[in-house]
Amino acid sequence: MSPHLLVTGGAGFIGSNFVHHVIAHTDARVTVLDKLTYAGSAANLDGLPEDRVRLVEGDIADAALVEELVAPLTEEGDAIVHYAAESHNDNSLSDPSPFLHTNITGTFTLLEAARRHGTRLHHVSTDEVYGDLELDDPERFTEHTPYNPSSPYSATKAGSDLLVRAWVRSFGVRATLSNCSNNYGPRQHVEKFIPRQITNLIDGVRPRLYGAGLNVRDWIHADDHSSAVLTILERGELGRTYLIGADGEKNNLEVVRLILQLMGHDPDDFEHVDDRPGHDLRYAIDPTTLREELGWAPAHRDFEAGLAATIDWYRENEAWWRGQKAATEAKYRAAGQ
Ligand code: NAD
Ligand code: TYD
Repeated sequence: MSPHLLVTGGAGFIGSNFVHHVIAHTDARVTVLDKLTYAGSAANLDGLPEDRVRLVEGDIADAALVEELVAPLTEEGDAIVHYAAESHNDNSLSDPSPFLHTNITGTFTLLEAARRHGTRLHHVSTDEVYGDLELDDPERFTEHTPYNPSSPYSATKAGSDLLVRAWVRSFGVRATLSNCSNNYGPRQHVEKFIPRQITNLIDGVRPRLYGAGLNVRDWIHADDHSSAVLTILERGELGRTYLIGADGEKNNLEVVRLILQLMGHDPDDFEHVDDRPGHDLRYAIDPTTLREELGWAPAHRDFEAGLAATIDWYRENEAWWRGQKAATEAKYRAAGQ
């Protein structure tokens, strides 16, 4: 029997990338459990074979539904791969409540099902649980960095990580965790930094930079995140946390200037807007453990080439993002951003 994966949040940006990756690189079957919130879309699974991918629309905090989907995962190699989350910091500042529901109660619900059935679980998380670094901090985040989240988003992701660790230690749940840096690539919601600026420029609107733009993010292509998660599923040690990063540190100003340049504009043709309250200064991942112990390496090493391909994707797939753009910008306008 081929392995069967239950991928939560598999209709979102990174989860759907993982489903495409699994279908291309393994013989696994996938059930996607996704609530299809504003951030999820069945279209993200278009083109995948129907006999290998099934989409179930539902909430990860629905214990009865989760029980029904986890109970059949009994074979060696079967697993829950948990991507579902409320994922945007700015939304968490305007209304934290769905973050508590999905990131905390949802993760708890999956853990209880994994505990009842002895199911392997991989929990997908973010480097934002570690808080932020100074610009000149010589140390990057490692799996030993203390948790110090800043926003309701990162606090609820930190809470979900700690639940997973507690369920491993107290109940012997067979889980691994990963904390990844900022992802970019096709099918990312237009609320996020890179797609927002690309689609603004397509619409003839100047990019919007929070504050001075000196905040640093450590960019990784979503394909590389997927290959890393698959590597951890296949070869990771139970109970361990792995940090996923691709040595991609850039400040926001550099990224905006590069987008402008790649899209044929003056690199200084952007606007500074109100900063995000509590805005983390710098994230940076030390991915040595994943590389040396599990032999993983990123395939997308040229950020400029990856960004150019991402810009092409948004140009060619306007129908995918157009419906979300006006409402997203209205929210940002209301927040002065
Ligand atoms: P996303 O917002 O694009 O997708 C989230 C998906 O989860 C959507 O399809 C949504 O419909 C679904 N969902 C939300 N609430 C749900 C619920 N209660 N039940 C079932 N499904 C639900 O997010 P993303 O950027 O793809 O992030 C996926 C995961 O990766 C998250 O756990 C996030 O914390 C983590 N992560 C993201 C980044 C990044 O740069 N975006 C970096 C590191 C880690
Ligand atoms: P974002 O994509 O929201 O990811 P995260 O907050 O998880 O890092 O933002 C990335 C960076 O870009 C962050 O420093 C905030 C900044 N930013 C802007 O400067 N302008 C924008 O319009 C947005 C959405 C983000």
